[in-house]
Amino acid sequence: MSVEKEMKNIMEYETVALDDDNDALVILDQTKLPGAAELISLHTGKEIWDAIYLLKVRGAPAIGVAAAFGLYLLAKGIRTDDYEVFYQELCRHKEYLNSARPTAVNLSWALGRMEQVCLKHKELPVSEIKVKLKEEAVLLKEEDIRVCRAIGEYGLTLVKPGDGILTHCNAGQLATCRYGTATAPIYLGQERGYDFRVYADETRPLLQGARLTAYELYASGVDVTLICDNMSATVMRNGWVNAVFVGCDRVAANGDTANKIGTSVVATVAARYHVPVYICAPTSTIDMSTPTGADIVIEQRPAHEVTDMWYEKPMAPAGVKVFNPAFDVTDHDLIAGIVTEYGIARAPYTESLQEIFCRKQKGPFS
Ligand code: MRU
Repeated sequence: MSVEKEMKNIMEYETVALDDDNDALVILDQTKLPGAAELISLHTGKEIWDAIYLLKVRGAPAIGVAAAFGLYLLAKGIRTDDYEVFYQELCRHKEYLNSARPTAVNLSWALGRMEQVCLKHKELPVSEIKVKLKEEAVLLKEEDIRVCRAIGEYGLTLVKPGDGILTHCNAGQLATCRYGTATAPIYLGQERGYDFRVYADETRPLLQGARLTAYELYASGVDVTLICDNMSATVMRNGWVNAVFVGCDRVAANGDTANKIGTSVVATVAARYHVPVYICAPTSTIDMSTPTGADIVIEQRPAHEVTDMWYEKPMAPAGVKVFNPAFDVTDHDLIAGIVTEYGIARAPYTESLQEIFCRKQKGPFS
């Protein structure tokens, strides 16, 4: 693993990039932000797995794209001309990368697309299948940028200039390849002079809101105010928030949504204060094969993230029991709309999400 340090505006960095000449996946190490912007080059399956598990690259869409580039690089390194041997090895790498994190469906979705390319082109020589795999990974990244922009356009129809928007965790540019999902309406609004006031939850325990969302919005010139997670009721009760925009890691077929731990708390508080909660969800994050939120596997993280990680010394008694789920499920009845690149789904979600996928089958979004 090599490290490169640069000084430029955080928005100029690519979250995930392929350096094919050097057989490397290049990511901006998000564990170092906001203190340092470090690009790291990853070469091995273990390095890529670790980067995903340790949240050096994080956010559902970015994880998917990183895994796709990673699988391409690992496939490139398979030394055989025999399709069956190649395919078996590819599947082994795919399963390994897929095991890094369980909740964000984009990981298995992107890896699944890569496998489909391999199956579709089984008649080609292995060397040409490798080229097709690279093209698919590059396409996944380009698509992510277009998808986020489309989500931004739909999301922008839900708010008006001067509105207050609350967001939780980081569903920003750093979680995607550009624009973010929950931040896309904010960035597009800013291009058009909407002057939003944004409240960014700090997002315990890994502080993605403070370290990443507040950082990228502030660097972009957006009016952003950082709040602790337990302040959402105060800003809503004060009437400062007109809408909540959050991202997601998996949306079930009934609209129940897994996102960063604390999202369901925000949604419950928002219901009390009649603030609409919008989930910004690329269709790659909607998993119609998962019936309800109860069927979503929630990642459990180590205790030290809560007790020690951001402190100079431990802030909890040694050995105390810690519960550290990375995500929670927001019930569909707390969600005012699910904003996709194909339009906005509204309750009842069992029907409207099907409709979104019907539109997707008919052709590309505009
Ligand atoms: O644990 P993380 O930082 O990967 O969690 C990220 C989130 O919960 C995001 O809100 C979600 O992945 C959507 S990113 C567009």
